[in-house]
Order: sequence, then C-alpha cells, then structure tokens
Amino acid sequence: MRRLIKAFLTLLILTLLAIPIYLFGATIFQLIGQYYYPIAAIVAIIGLALTLYVYIQHRRTSLLELLSSLNQKVCEIMIQNPEFTDYRKTRKYDEEWGCDPYKLNKFEAFARMCWEHAETIYNTKVFFPGLFIKRFAFVFERCKRRYGNWFENNSSSFSSPGFLEFVRHCKWRKYLDPRTADLLRWDNEYEDYDKHMIHPFQNGVKNPLVAYLKNEIKNKEEKVVADFGCGNGYFIKDYLAPHFKKVYGTDYSDNMIQATKKNCDEFIKKGKVELLKLDMAKDLSKLYEKIDLGFSINSILPRNPTDTPKILEQIAKTLKSEGQFVAIIPSFTAVRHVRKLYYEEKFFKEAKGNWLTKRVRARLRLRREFDRKYQYNARKNLFADNEADIQRFIGDDKIESLFKKAGLKVTYLGKESDEVEYPWDICERTGYGYFPGKKQVWDCFVIAIKDTTQA
Ligand SMILES: C[S@@+](CC[C@H](N)C(=O)[O-])C[C@H]1O[C@@H](n2cnc3c(N)ncnc32)[C@H](O)[C@@H]1O
Repeated sequence: MRRLIKAFLTLLILTLLAIPIYLFGATIFQLIGQYYYPIAAIVAIIGLALTLYVYIQHRRTSLLELLSSLNQKVCEIMIQNPEFTDYRKTRKYDEEWGCDPYKLNKFEAFARMCWEHAETIYNTKVFFPGLFIKRFAFVFERCKRRYGNWFENNSSSFSSPGFLEFVRHCKWRKYLDPRTADLLRWDNEYEDYDKHMIHPFQNGVKNPLVAYLKNEIKNKEEKVVADFGCGNGYFIKDYLAPHFKKVYGTDYSDNMIQATKKNCDEFIKKGKVELLKLDMAKDLSKLYEKIDLGFSINSILPRNPTDTPKILEQIAKTLKSEGQFVAIIPSFTAVRHVRKLYYEEKFFKEAKGNWLTKRVRARLRLRREFDRKYQYNARKNLFADNEADIQRFIGDDKIESLFKKAGLKVTYLGKESDEVEYPWDICERTGYGYFPGKKQVWDCFVIAIKDTTQA
C-alpha cells in the first residue's frame, strides 16, 4: 500500500513538472518557427549525451557498489576463518586441509569467490579502463599472494581473455603510479624474498663487498652506518650490527621493516640497530650529516624515471663530510650482455635456414621471448627479471656521472671484471638464463665519497 502511494505521488509530481516544461517548450518552438528542425536535432543530441552520461554514472555507481559488497563478503569470511588469511596455510591448502574435506571444500569455495571477484574487477576494464583495477589493486595483490596456488590449479575455470596473463604477470600494477607499484611489489615480496631474488650474499656469488668490509674499514666500532633499502635485514644482522657502533636500517615498505625487526630483534633491544621507515626518493633528512658509511645493496632500482638521481642526492646528504657510500648497483650493461647471449647462443643457433633467414628468425624470437617477456627497454634501462615488475637498472658507463650530479665522487668502480658476479646455476633458478662457459651476470660494486668540492 505504502509503495502504491509512493508511486502515485511520484507520478503526480512528474506530471505537475511536465506541464510547465511542455508549455515552455511549446512557446519556444513557436517563437523559433523556421529553425525548429535544426534546434530539435541539437536538443536531441544534447539529450542523448545527457542520457549516456547518466547511464555511465549509474553503471559506475552500481559496479562500485557490487565490487565493494563482494569485497565486504570476502572480508567477513576472512574474519570468520582467520586461517584462510595465513599464506603459509593457503599456499599448501591441499596439504593443510586435505584430511578434512569439509574445510577443504570451504576453502576452495572461498578461493573461487575471491578470484571471481578479481575477474569481475578485471572485466570492468572494457568500459572503465583502469578505474576499478586501480581502486581494487589490493584485491589482486591479496588473491595472488594467498590464493595464487589455488588459481594455478584451477586456472581453466577463468575464461575471460587475457585474465591468466594479467594475474601471472601482476599487470594491475601497471595501472598504478610507478611509486605505488614499486611499494606494493616490495610489500608483497618480503615473504618469499630469498626464493625469488638473486642476491649478492647468496652462497656461490662472488661479492667483493665482503672482503672490503673485512679488510678496508678501520675502527668499525666508532662508525655510524646506514643500510638504505635494507629489505629483510640480513645484511644488517650478519655484516653490520655485530661490528659497527650504530646501524640505521631504512626502507619504505612496512612489511620489509617488520621482517628486519624480526631478524635483528636482539640488536634492536641493545640499541645498536634503529629502523626508520623512510622513502629514499623523498626525504632522508632525519639522517642528514649523521652517517660515516652508507650502503645500498640493490635498492636503487625505481620505476619512476626521476627517482634514481633523487635517491642518490638524498643519500649523499646523509653522509658526514668524510663519509663514504658503498653500493651494489643493478647493471643494465649486464642485462644487455644476457640479451646478446640469448640471441647468439640460443635463438640464432636454434634457428633454421640460411644465414639471413636464421638472423631474421632469431631477431623475431628475441623480440618475443626476451624483449616482450622481460619488458626490456634499452632506451629507459628497464627490465623485469621476474617477468612482472619493471626495474630501472643503470648502465655501467652512466654510474660516475649520475653519482657526480648527486654530489658523490666515485673512487672505485668494479664492473665486468671486478664486480658482484652471479654463477649461471643461480641465474637459471631465478629465470635469468643458463649459458655456462660465458661471462656471468654481474652487478656493479661502487665506492664513493661525498664530493665536498660541489658544496
Ligand atoms: C632488491 S631489494 C634489496 C633489499 C636488501 N638491500 C637486500 O640486499 O636484500 C630492494 C629494497 O629496497 C627498498 N626500496 C626500494 N625503493 C625504496 C625507496 N624509494 N625508499 C626506501 N626503500 C626502498 C625495497 O622496499 C626493498 O626492500
């Protein structure tokens, strides 16, 4: 009854409104006379545009409501089943709940719901490119991190074109601004950091920094040092905290800071290690002029093009006048070297035909299986070694000038023959390639001092 009254009242109001509008329109059309048709066309076009606008707004709002309510449902289930949020369990879900079919089914239904939610968000890109993907990027991160294994085992049930590729290569991060994308990547990397990444302190890696720390640094117990972009803190724990007077560990990822906190707990309690959540590309002023020795172990690799010089500038400012900066820099020259090996040692050798057709085929394969796969960009020095997250490397020949502009004078640059060198078997495990007998992949080992002549 109430609904009926409401409908009647709405109709009445609309009719009352329509009468003056009709009268006004009729008078205008009468006045206009001969211009009636063109004006009617203009009015129709405006009307159409307005209708379309209202439709799009309506669709946007209803999609937002739908996606938000789905997210709410997912969160409610997560609150009721906290074990579904523990990545250590959800990644091995069949092992974890294999003997409890009820729980396993419940988890499977939940994981499917999460991925269907993600697929719905993905499909909005037809009408609203980027809008919802950007807003709900956290849903993809959450699903990939916790329910990625379930997805791989059930990927055939997700049929939207391109969705698999989108998930496997974390393509939602492309819709975000480069800094947010980087931060999300590191925030989610911390759990599997040692599994995914090649790093200079891994067994078998030739790393001149170890000998440098042991033999070249005197009076360690008097020095204040900093590890910029400390990651999970293993470098601080094993190499810095036991020897130096005070160690600052900085990172902009909350999760990385938490991981370092866990790893360096004992030193933090003693007051030897202090952790600071700081973005190197923005502001390190808390440490200006405080540091005797600063380190960066593969932490200068921002997507944002203007960030590399900013980071170096900020680090330079943290050094005391006699301060030193020791860095391991991801080398783009090494990336070029690997690309060349792929071409010469693999694609060209495996191609069929005469010399010319072999060359053409090998080039095409290089584009497809290297450039596209690893998002290689020679002009911008970009490369995604995990096939998903672009990183900005630095060419060996660019290091000195970049450092100089930031107020740092390079005193030692180990490259190609005297650098951090990764054996091929480690490279193979992390997807870099395997070319035994050929020059191995390297990062640059750089030592710089504060350039006081520029002040
Ligand atoms: C490749 S990891 C290296 C971590 C560590 N130094 C190691 O050797 O394992 C890069 C680290 O730098 C941090 N990082 C990257 N850009 C940063 C920035 N602008 N400010 C602070 N930390 C940053 C990331 O969060 C991540 O922990």
